[in-house]
Amino acid sequence: MKKIAVFTSGGDSPGMNANVRAVVRTALYYGISVVGIRNGYEGLIDGDMFEMSSKDVSNILQLGGTILGTARSERFMTVEGRNQAYANLQKFGIEGIVACGGNGTFTGAMVFMSEHPDIRIVGTPGTIDNDLYGTDYTIGYDTAVNTAMNAIDNIKDTANSHGRVFFVEVMGRDAGFIALRSAIAVGAEAVLVPEAFTDLNVLVKTLNTNYENKKRASIVIVAEGDDAGDAFEVVRQIKSRLLSKDIRVTVLGHIQRGGRPTVADRVLASRLGLEAVRALRDGKVGVAIGQISGDISYTPFEVAIKHNQKINQAWLEMVDILS
Ligand code: F6P
Repeated sequence: MKKIAVFTSGGDSPGMNANVRAVVRTALYYGISVVGIRNGYEGLIDGDMFEMSSKDVSNILQLGGTILGTARSERFMTVEGRNQAYANLQKFGIEGIVACGGNGTFTGAMVFMSEHPDIRIVGTPGTIDNDLYGTDYTIGYDTAVNTAMNAIDNIKDTANSHGRVFFVEVMGRDAGFIALRSAIAVGAEAVLVPEAFTDLNVLVKTLNTNYENKKRASIVIVAEGDDAGDAFEVVRQIKSRLLSKDIRVTVLGHIQRGGRPTVADRVLASRLGLEAVRALRDGKVGVAIGQISGDISYTPFEVAIKHNQKINQAWLEMVDILS
């Protein structure tokens, strides 16, 4: 293999830069040249690519976001878009790709490889949602949870000063990993995640018991994709039944996507970037590179996206027991 490409795609996540750096430096180490593609699949279609040197990835390890840019590409969902992308890959002589992203990125790669099997693609799991099977953690998840934790710590200060109930909505699309881990980290009174049925009667009882017991403040973490609705919707449904009338809603939003990656994300992203290049060099194709219990794992794209990571029920119970 003489030339590969790397791109970041879908929602950005802290650690994507560390991943790109590792891909570029590992490829050059093995004598393989690397092309950077800007804005994910959009850049592939537009031929927006450039040969990368070791210097191009200097001083980016610690930066959030992605220096390559990213996008959610509608055009890549069309045959015409994918054919155009293929023509560009041929023009640049690219034989393999490291695609860093989440569900949409891996789905796009699978469709593309079924039409153009001569292009070898492996993936690295870049998403804050942690919703991919085949890795304990995705790149960016740890940073996002730390960001959420710090923000909720701040909310707890004001919640306790005023004696309020706060509903804090966190990201995760249709997964509750950010919600659950941050709930444990901040000692939330309750957490609502899409993976477990949300019984609002139970939530009302918990919050009213806290109020009667003169617990000064309560924090409820709501995963944006919860089955009972988002944080505003949950409050709308139950506020008339809550004894506390001092209620606030905070939506953390995209603050969770940015910022300097944590140690865990930098190390994970670096290792998976390095192993992705080795995987391509060794002839692996159509797999997501992950880390399970410290070991490198190779999971077919179709398994990584469909067998969604399972939420840990014991951890849900932990929130109840410790609150
Ligand atoms: O997949 C990452 C994520 O941040 C989700 O948690 C969230 O639902 C979504 O992306 C938001 O996407 P966008 O930035 O396109 O609004």
